Amino acid sequence: MKRLVIAMTGASGAVYGVRLLEQLRKAGGVETHLMISDAAALNLHHELDIKRKDVEALADAVHSVRDIGACVASGSFQTDGMVIAPCSMKTLASVAHGMCDNLITRAADVMLKERRRLILMVRETPFNLAHLRNMTAVTEMGGVIFPPLPALYQRPQTVSEMVDHTVGRVLDLLSIEQTLAPEWTGLKAERSQ
Ligand SMILES: Cc1cc2nc3c(=O)[nH]c(=O)nc-3n(C[C@H](O)[C@H](O)[C@H](O)COP(=O)(O)O)c2cc1C
Repeated sequence: MKRLVIAMTGASGAVYGVRLLEQLRKAGGVETHLMISDAAALNLHHELDIKRKDVEALADAVHSVRDIGACVASGSFQTDGMVIAPCSMKTLASVAHGMCDNLITRAADVMLKERRRLILMVRETPFNLAHLRNMTAVTEMGGVIFPPLPALYQRPQTVSEMVDHTVGRVLDLLSIEQTLAPEWTGLKAERSQ
């Protein structure tokens, strides 16, 4: 049984967090611990017309962002990694500077100090120098910066297909079997399909 920490923050792209949770539940064998920031809850409603509690129902355990004493705040609580989907520039900055100012950034700090997988699905455009420096800092500490950029070589026809492909690649990084983003078999093979 794997154990993953999932956090949603207030960047655009709430759908990535929701889809990731749906896929983890479908995959089975993964215990999910979820945190949703207040700004993420706003975006969930604005972008998807979904209530916080409906997303929370997709997780095995839910923690308040303010509950700094929760299990995921400690490195002794064994986990296989964490994904922040989507990740705002504010949360990125906190992680990059080791702020630990709420349970999300503390849990991310734990991932880095314990050398566990940390994936930040950062979303902003364009980037300013602070954003770029913060992404570099997280990369230097071992985190994975994973902006949810659609891959067009798969010729997606719908937004859902674009989202699924991106979520599939995140699952790959977590070593969780997935069928959303099939392996690239080479141009020749792809053309003959
Ligand atoms: C509709 C909406 C869209 C937003 N989109 C982004 C975004 O794409 N990237 C970003 O960094 N912040 C975005 N923000 C701003 C963040 O939500 C804001 O900085 C917030 O303080 C982040 O807090 P959190 O990281 O604790 O969730 C958006 C806010 C709103 C209301």
